[in-house]
Amino acid sequence: MTLTEPQPAAGSEPVFSPALSPQEGVEAATTLFRDCFGAAPDGVWYAPGRVNVIGEHTDYNGGLALPIALPHRAHLALRRREDRTIRLVSPQTRESIDVLDLDAIGPKGTPGEVRHWNAYVAGVAWALERDGLGPLSGFDAALYSCVPLGGGLSSSAALECATAVALNDVCSLGLAGTAQEPDDAGRARLVNSCIRAENEMAGAPTGGMDQSASMRCRAGHALELDCRDGSVTHVPFDLAAAGLTLLVIDTKAKHSLVDGQYGARRSACERAAEILGVELLADITGGALEDALGRLRESGAADAEVLVTRTRHVVSEIDRTRDLVSLLQDGAPLVGERLARAGALMDASHESLRVDYEVTCPELDVAVEAAREAGAHGARMTGGGFGGSAIALVDSDAVDTVARAVVDAYAAHGFAAPAFLNAVPSAPAGRLA
Ligand code: GLA
Repeated sequence: MTLTEPQPAAGSEPVFSPALSPQEGVEAATTLFRDCFGAAPDGVWYAPGRVNVIGEHTDYNGGLALPIALPHRAHLALRRREDRTIRLVSPQTRESIDVLDLDAIGPKGTPGEVRHWNAYVAGVAWALERDGLGPLSGFDAALYSCVPLGGGLSSSAALECATAVALNDVCSLGLAGTAQEPDDAGRARLVNSCIRAENEMAGAPTGGMDQSASMRCRAGHALELDCRDGSVTHVPFDLAAAGLTLLVIDTKAKHSLVDGQYGARRSACERAAEILGVELLADITGGALEDALGRLRESGAADAEVLVTRTRHVVSEIDRTRDLVSLLQDGAPLVGERLARAGALMDASHESLRVDYEVTCPELDVAVEAAREAGAHGARMTGGGFGGSAIALVDSDAVDTVARAVVDAYAAHGFAAPAFLNAVPSAPAGRLA
C-alpha cells in the first residue's frame, strides 16, 4: 500500500468500474486515433478481459479451466500501413506516439525488446509472423481499454486478442470469423500467437487460459477449456436467470506475473511431473493422487513437501472444475442444493489456493471472508493471485450488502479501497466498426 492510495472509511459507498458500451468504445478509440494520427482508422476491434469461475493454475498443467469473458474490453482503432512501421498510442501516452519497426523488434532480453504495453500489441504482430501467418504489414493503432489495469482481469490478454482480430482482418488472415459466428479453429491459432507474444515478448510465463477466454468465450456461457488439447465446451452460465450475480472484487493489491512467483509455481509443477514420470500433472487423476503424493514425499527432493502441496492443489482443482461443469452443463437454474454445491466448490478452490498453492494475499483472503460472511454463496480469488481480483457468487439483491461488507472489512484492515465489477458472461473478441 502506498500513501497516495485512497483509504476507505467504514460505511463508504462501493465504487463499481463501469464497462464502456460498444458505441462508447468505438467513439473513444476513434477519437484518439484521429487526434493522434490525423485520419480515420480502418476499423475498431475489441477483446474482453476475463474472470475464471474455477480451475486456477491448471492451464499450464494441462488441466481444466472455466473462464467467462467480461463486458469490460480493450478497444483498438487500427489502420494498416504499407510499410513495416508500427505506431501506437493510448490515452496515457497520447503526447508521444511510440514508433516501432516490425523488422527490428524481438523477444524480451534481446536488443529488439519492446517495453510496457507495446509488447502486447507489437508482440502479437511479431508472433503471428513467427507462427507462419505473415508477412504482415505495419499499422497505426490507438488503444482505449476499460479493463482495469493490474486487476488480474487479463487486461494484457485483451490487448493481445484485440490486436490479433484486428490484424486478422486488415491483413486478410481469414482466421477469426465474427463474434457472432466465430471460426473457433482459426481463433485457436490466433490464441497461440497471443500466448507466444505474452511468453516471449512480454516475458510472462503464463499458460494461455486468458487468451482462450478472450477469444473463444460465448455470451451467457462459461468456457470449459481443456488445456491438454485446447478443446472447448460452452457451458450455460446465465446467472441472472437464477437471480444471481458474479461480483468481482478488484483488491487493488499489486500483482505481477513476471516477478518470479508465478514462474516458481509453474516450475515446481514441472519438477513434480518429472519425478512422477508424467508429462503434465493433469495426467494424475484424483484416484491416483495419494499414491503420487507418497512418491513425491519419498523422492528425496529438497523441497518434496512443497511439491506435494502444489500437486495436491492442481489435481484437486481439476476435479473441482469438472464437478462444477457437471453441475452447470444441463443449463438448469443454479438454485437450492446445486447452488450450495457450486458455492462450496468455489470456497474449496480458494482454500486450496491459499493453503496448498500459496498464491493468495491478505487482501484476497479478507475480500473472500467478508463476502462469505455477508451472504455470498461462495467466493474465491480468480486469476494468477498475489493480488488482483476475487469473485463472489451472490444473490443479485444482495450485491450492495456484500460490496459494502467488503469495503468495511478493507477499512478495518487499513487496506486501500477495492473496486467492484459485475461479471456478466459476455461476447468474445470481434470487430465493432
Ligand atoms: C494467470 C495466467 C493464466 C493462468 C492463471 C491462473 O491469469 O495468465 O495463464 O495460469 O494465472 O489460473
